[in-house]
Amino acid sequence: MTDWWREAVFYQVYPRSFQDADGDGVGDLEGVRRRLPYLAETLGVDAVWLSPFYPSPMADFGYDVADYCGVDPLFGDLEDFDRLLAGCHERGLRLIVDLVPNHTSNRHPWFVESRASRHSSKRDWYLWRDAAPGGGPPNNWQAVFGGPAWEWDEATGQYYLHSFLAEQPDLNWRHPEVRAAMVEVMRFWLDRGVDGFRIDVADFVMKDPDLGDDPPAGTGRPLSRAHPDVHGVFRDTRLLLDEYEPPRVAIGEIHEADLAVWASYYGSGDELHLPFNFSLLHAPWDAEEVRRRVEALEGALLAGAWPNWVLGNHDEPRLATRFGPSATRTAAMLLLTLRGTPTLYYGDELGLPQLEVAPEHQQDPFGRRVPGRGRDGCRTPMPWDAGPHAGFCPARVEPWLPLGPGAAERSVAEQLADPHSLLNLHRAVLALRRASPALRLGDLRTIPDAPAGCLVYRRLHPGAAPIAVALNFTGDPLEIPGMGPGRIVVSTGMDRAGEAVAGVLSLGLHEGVLVEEAPG
Ligand code: NOJ
Repeated sequence: MTDWWREAVFYQVYPRSFQDADGDGVGDLEGVRRRLPYLAETLGVDAVWLSPFYPSPMADFGYDVADYCGVDPLFGDLEDFDRLLAGCHERGLRLIVDLVPNHTSNRHPWFVESRASRHSSKRDWYLWRDAAPGGGPPNNWQAVFGGPAWEWDEATGQYYLHSFLAEQPDLNWRHPEVRAAMVEVMRFWLDRGVDGFRIDVADFVMKDPDLGDDPPAGTGRPLSRAHPDVHGVFRDTRLLLDEYEPPRVAIGEIHEADLAVWASYYGSGDELHLPFNFSLLHAPWDAEEVRRRVEALEGALLAGAWPNWVLGNHDEPRLATRFGPSATRTAAMLLLTLRGTPTLYYGDELGLPQLEVAPEHQQDPFGRRVPGRGRDGCRTPMPWDAGPHAGFCPARVEPWLPLGPGAAERSVAEQLADPHSLLNLHRAVLALRRASPALRLGDLRTIPDAPAGCLVYRRLHPGAAPIAVALNFTGDPLEIPGMGPGRIVVSTGMDRAGEAVAGVLSLGLHEGVLVEEAPG
């Protein structure tokens, strides 16, 4: 049997923004549960990744965890979680949760105890250091959210490390008790039945043990993260997951430009199942560049390693705004037909645009600190129907972020009623994927002599009809020779299905088509 996570399409739910069931203007677990029919049947994805819902002071909207084994009252309680998980499983959906191992909240009881005194039994659960000789932080490490990665603690006269906000102190993963505590956390969720984890900033957990200075940007490997000892952490995690049946999945958030280093996180099939691949996230929308990146990624994979693709998430500007309406359709077709496991970000199937949030209304701490880097714009509430607040929350409350102009016209209900909508395009490609072993599991062969501006590849699987994918990245019509014989099964305009293809295929501007070809 093929591993379920290879064939699955993952869908990321940002719980604050999916569906408010308790009427406070913020999404919750019960809201997600009520929308499971949409995910499983209407859209047709296979697995859900839930961003954090744990008790948290919300300094980083849940990525500052104060209790790894609970549910923040804002989102419900553990019973709501169990109901949601059962609801997923009843519908054949898998559910993975976000594990945030690199740091806790500064209000987590572990950190409160660690901070209490230099002699605390949990002092070394975090990274405390004296000031540098002459004063100042112990080294030059910078926090991802800006400023030095060290915070001075007046009471105990030492600095602690925080790779993100000062409210997110880094755990010391070289301490055996920390590792044991995190195994308990993972078991807590695995024993409840979750199907795996998306591991937040997975490669950050191991840093240079001597805390050496980072080299100037672009001149060498950082010492503040991704120390090779992280492989041992991933191997231990994998051993734990493999104890469960069917085996649970580990998807690691890894931002790593060096593809060889990135590919090393698969280990020899004994580390992460899927280190997130962000190589197309910042790619210019150019056929040759995308082809080069796809081929480089495929070439970097070690034997048995399975690719995965991401075009959007809760940290990045919305796809529809990055690419514009036409290219958003070809991008969706690309994401769902490349070889490997795609992760779709909620709302991208509707083409939600980036919301411009005035600096004074920024909710995201990153945006408040570093102008222009705020992530509120890609976290707006999901528009469902023509009801108040597009069905996200009741009329009497304001949603935690505005829905943004035009949300109602992009709602699920509106788009279901329009046979040519972006949502219906997603549904058609997802349905085809479910029916096509070539799309789910087949090899990928790019066609090197495709006309400039066009990306063409075939997905091939023994015994299955090949699927040819032809994407026009330009604003001009193009002709592609050597296609078919076969017939178009989906086109980005949702208007060419059934058309015969034999020889030259004409593509309109920014058009993409999937052609089912005769085998052999
Ligand atoms: C990566 C998450 O995706 C992001 O939202 C968060 O702010 C940081 N990790 C810190 O946990």
